[in-house]
This record gives sequence, structure tokens and C-alpha cells, in this order.
Amino acid sequence: MSSTDTRDPVLRVEDLHVRYGGSHILQGVSFDVAATGVTALLGRNGVGKTTTLKAILGLAPRTGRIVANGTEIQKHPTTRIVRDGIGYVPEDREVFGGLTVEENLRLVDRDRGIDAPVVQRLFPDLVPRRSQRAGTLSGGQQQMVALARVLLRPTTLLLVDEPTKGLAPKLVTEVADVLAEVARSTPVLLVEQNLPLVRRIADDVVVLDAGRVVHRGSAADLIADADRTRELLGVSMRKEGAA
Ligand SMILES: Nc1ncnc2c1ncn2[C@@H]1O[C@H](COP(=O)(O)OP(=O)(O)OP(=O)(O)O)[C@@H](O)[C@H]1O
Ligand SMILES: [Mg+2]
Repeated sequence: MSSTDTRDPVLRVEDLHVRYGGSHILQGVSFDVAATGVTALLGRNGVGKTTTLKAILGLAPRTGRIVANGTEIQKHPTTRIVRDGIGYVPEDREVFGGLTVEENLRLVDRDRGIDAPVVQRLFPDLVPRRSQRAGTLSGGQQQMVALARVLLRPTTLLLVDEPTKGLAPKLVTEVADVLAEVARSTPVLLVEQNLPLVRRIADDVVVLDAGRVVHRGSAADLIADADRTRELLGVSMRKEGAA
């Protein structure tokens, strides 16, 4: 943490290890997530980004120290971690395609569902689609349902895994807008491959490589350095890239 950081992070990960059988997947990962804005977790395919999110949630076997809102959670079960305010939108979104938008939301908030203020405020496009089966929505709209479902619970930190993967550019922009709006009130740890999006909405970046943190710093600084970005991620910002 830099000396200019005066506030405690919402999440602190220290020396996190994950092993699956004989595979040592995370090899001592340490980073902070600031209490405001978006922290992007970056890295090439297979370096351990999803495993990091799962380890925070207790969905992967982990050792190390994880402090959320000042409480050590590394021994807590997933149910408690979620109840205590860490929301998670996994990469495959896990929206129930056979249920309507409204039914998907009522699974979490039986009384208010789509009428909850958070949904009305952040996801107005879902309101006229309340009776539509979620499976017939676009990928971007399904991502909105997944985000809305998580945010219906009190959330102190939102973990989101590649929310724009496979989405058309216009939908990428819509999802980015929503995440930026969410981050005004709830800190977000975002796994994302779209660098223009990261540049636009992320404040901080953490870069993983082969199960270790290889870079931490400001998102703008990293992405402005094309050589370093290419070295860490294998790609750099294309000038025409859209988010
Ligand atoms: N349940 C598991 N059992 C064994 N190995 C696993 C398991 N889950 C993930 N791995 C391995 O751990 C490594 C990191 O996977 P992870 O999904 O965390 O990477 P990632 O950075 O999210 O990749 P991607 O960019 O492809 O989503 C990979 O080598 C993967 O094969
Ligand atoms: Mg992944």
C-alpha cells in the first residue's frame, strides 16, 4: 500500500496459497482492494484469477490470511462470507434461463425482486423485461440479471469474473457503465481482459502470472506503458479499442 493511502482497504489478501492435488495454483498471492472504486485483477489465461476469487469466497481450498472489512475470513465457510457482504458474479453468470427475470431476482429477494430500489436505479432496462425468460435475454442483459441478483443483498464488496467476455462492443460499454455506477457505492474487484474497459473504470490493478502477483499499481499508469502492459499481459492497448 502506498503512503498516500490513508484509508483501510475493504479486502486484504496475504500470502494466499491454493493447491489442487499436486498442483500449486496460487503461490503466495498478496494484494489489497481499496474501499472505493474498481480494482482490476489481470493476467494471461490460466494464471489464477478465477481461483483467487474462489479462494476469497471459500470455494477453493486455501491457506493464508484474508481480511474483509477488518475481519479474518480465511476460515469462514462460503455461506458466512456471502452473508457478511461479499457478492460474487461468476464467469458463467449462473442465471436460471428457464425462469423469468423477475423470478431470478425473487429467488434472492422474495418480497421486492425487480421493484427493489437498487434494481430500479442500476438496471432500468430489466424492468420492462421482468416477465421475459432469462434464457432469451442477450448476454449483456443476462449479466445485468446476475449483477442485480447479487446486489439485492447488502454488499460490501463485489467480485466479478470477466463480465464482458463474449459480449458485443455495445453491450461491453453498457456493462462497464453499470459497474462504474456500482463502484460509486460498492468497491469492486473485477477480473477483466478488456483493457480499454479497465482503463476507463479501474483505479488500481493487480497482475497475476503463474499464481503470483507480478505487478500492483494504478490502472492508468500501467495501461499508459505499452511495453510493460505487453510484457505482463501479452497485449497492449489498441488505440481504437472501445469500452
Ligand atoms: N478445480 C481445479 N482443479 C485443478 N486445477 C484447477 C482447478 N481450477 C483451476 N485449476 C487450474 O488452475 C490454474 C488457474 O486457473 P484459473 O481458472 O484460476 O485461471 P484464470 O486466470 O481465471 O484463467 P482464465 O483467464 O482462462 O479464466 C489453471 O492451470 C487451471 O487449470
Ligand atoms: Mg478465469
